[in-house]
Amino acid sequence: MQTLDRRHFLKLAAALGATLAWGCAHVPLPSVGWRERRDLYPQGVASGDPDEHSVLIWTRRPYADGRKDATLLVEVADDPAFTRMIATATTRVLAQSDWTCRVLVGDLKPAHEYWYRFVDADGNGSRIGRTLTAPAHDDPRPSRFAFVSCQSLPEGAMNAYRKMIWEDEHAAPGERLGFVLHLGDFVYEVVQYPDQLKSPRYDRKITFPIKFPKGKTVAKNRFWAPDSLDDYRVLYHAYLQDPDLQDARARWPFVAMWDNHEFSWQGWQSIQQFPGTDGWVPAQTLKVAAMQAWFEYQPARVTAPSRSLETFGAPHVVDTLVKDFDDDGLGTEPNNLAAIDSLIGYRALRWGRHIDLIITDQRSYRSHDPGDRDEINPLFENDTLGFVPEELWAQVDAGRDYANGHPPAKLSFGDKSVANYRAGEAPQTMLGAKQKAWFIEQLRGAKATWKIWGNSLGTPDQRVDPQNLPATVGKYPEGAGYATIDLHDWGAMYHERAEIFDAVRDAGITGLAIVAGDRHSFWAGYAAKALPPAAFEPVGVTFVGGSISSVGTAEANEHNIKKDDPTRPLYLADAGGGPPQANINLLLRHGVRSALEYASSGDLQKAHAASNPELAPHLTFVDLGGHGYATVRVDAERMVTEFVCIPRPIERSPGEDGGPLRYRVRHEVPIWRAGERPQMRTTVVEGDAGLAV
Ligand SMILES: [Fe+2]
Repeated sequence: MQTLDRRHFLKLAAALGATLAWGCAHVPLPSVGWRERRDLYPQGVASGDPDEHSVLIWTRRPYADGRKDATLLVEVADDPAFTRMIATATTRVLAQSDWTCRVLVGDLKPAHEYWYRFVDADGNGSRIGRTLTAPAHDDPRPSRFAFVSCQSLPEGAMNAYRKMIWEDEHAAPGERLGFVLHLGDFVYEVVQYPDQLKSPRYDRKITFPIKFPKGKTVAKNRFWAPDSLDDYRVLYHAYLQDPDLQDARARWPFVAMWDNHEFSWQGWQSIQQFPGTDGWVPAQTLKVAAMQAWFEYQPARVTAPSRSLETFGAPHVVDTLVKDFDDDGLGTEPNNLAAIDSLIGYRALRWGRHIDLIITDQRSYRSHDPGDRDEINPLFENDTLGFVPEELWAQVDAGRDYANGHPPAKLSFGDKSVANYRAGEAPQTMLGAKQKAWFIEQLRGAKATWKIWGNSLGTPDQRVDPQNLPATVGKYPEGAGYATIDLHDWGAMYHERAEIFDAVRDAGITGLAIVAGDRHSFWAGYAAKALPPAAFEPVGVTFVGGSISSVGTAEANEHNIKKDDPTRPLYLADAGGGPPQANINLLLRHGVRSALEYASSGDLQKAHAASNPELAPHLTFVDLGGHGYATVRVDAERMVTEFVCIPRPIERSPGEDGGPLRYRVRHEVPIWRAGERPQMRTTVVEGDAGLAV
């Protein structure tokens, strides 16, 4: 490494407060030796956030003999047998950090495979981990990564990781994954204790019960949720004992970002909300605890309040009701600000010539969701469909900025109306002002072929056309136009989404690809701020990956929508006597006429012939019943995203290959030039994608 790089690296290490392992040739073997004792390192090993010369490595070595800390030796080698050791260092595990440690290994070669392990003073060793450094910025070779999200362990199995490992082991070396991007819901903080369950949820049973040392019951005693730092830590202890997840963390570096469940189900900023509980629960101490546990268990290039990698250094905060918000929806209460600033997760990573990865935080700075407010409820009294007109929601979303500062005095739905409670309020924000400015600056400065936005929340509109419904299914107000079935993610955050997409268009940015999670379903299509009859002008492509294991919409529909519900055919097709099919896939891509045709005739060709071409030009694929993971391969010419879908992961697959595949679908996008439109070609490579294509 040249002096300049070395100095840059030292600066970087100092900023993270890193314990350093410095790569250099011919390090003599330490005398202590290494005997693998996985039982003493129950959560395995992990690595994270590689750049071209360095990577963070992680383990947990708990002690129960009353001591407060211990020293571990870190060994990094060029080969899995550790005959060519390239770096050693010592690091401390502290009771204060729940016996976890993070070590920044530097002076490494770009695009290189390394092995690492930890050894305690008695020679008891961790399992061996494998990690990879990023390719150099000018490396023209193709790059690959996987993106995943939503892995409820108590209710499901991590078969998707086993399949990913199997496929990677059998891939040619040049076609293996460089890293795994985890887009959140790594843990689920709401759990059910088996003795609390009247009946299992949907198709699931509790296969891995988790109990909190303290905990609190929420949502009218339906769930337990963490109520202390140790409660959050227990989640990671349990999850990381899963053999498939642990093996995945030992095989690839992870790049992780939290979504909601790392803190709280319906949480935003440092505030909790639970169904059945009136008002907001001030939760500054729990937000800090959630951030501390995340820092302790996810090796990432983030800066803890301590400015050290050894301990988090939680700021002292007091739970205080947040009452005042600034113009960007940010709660100005000092404990709220201290809690959300305790860990900044948004960050950018470069991976070779073709990937600028920019990751944002959708939960810590978002403004209060106006869909949660009671003022809107009278509009939907006696409504049986649950579809919200896009126009109405655009008025709620944009607040005082609607129609260039001309919001209507009333919000209306059919013959009902309420005063426009948003008329004097600022537009919703998901990112908050500061993060949004950072994000747009990152996009403008990105030089790689592909600008990948790692986003915990999906951006495609979840649009339906109830104006075409026959009266037998339900009554939708005349003239209300297209509607949305979901109000809570980017798909219905029209104003801020448009601001970002306009910035992309105005700067002539090409190669924008959004990868997201949270929806527990697979989506592929185009990133556009508006849909017909407005001008449809995509500025990029957008993908949502299915959940690793968490329950999806199709499974919930099977249990929640009764056989005699007149709206059932929109969501489920019971044709053919088999299990109900996810007809909602047709509803979202082709419209109500297609869905109803398929539900009655079971004829997919006839259903497609009834498609409404105006409904969803932004979508090329939707499967609300799929689980699994997605991979991305990029080079100078194209991006290929594959959805690898597995059957509903109720139980752990006993095989080494993670079990059967449902389908593999490929979405190919050639790079486009400024002023051109992205084009996507979707192909089913293997298996049966059912109603999704
Ligand atoms: Fe989730």
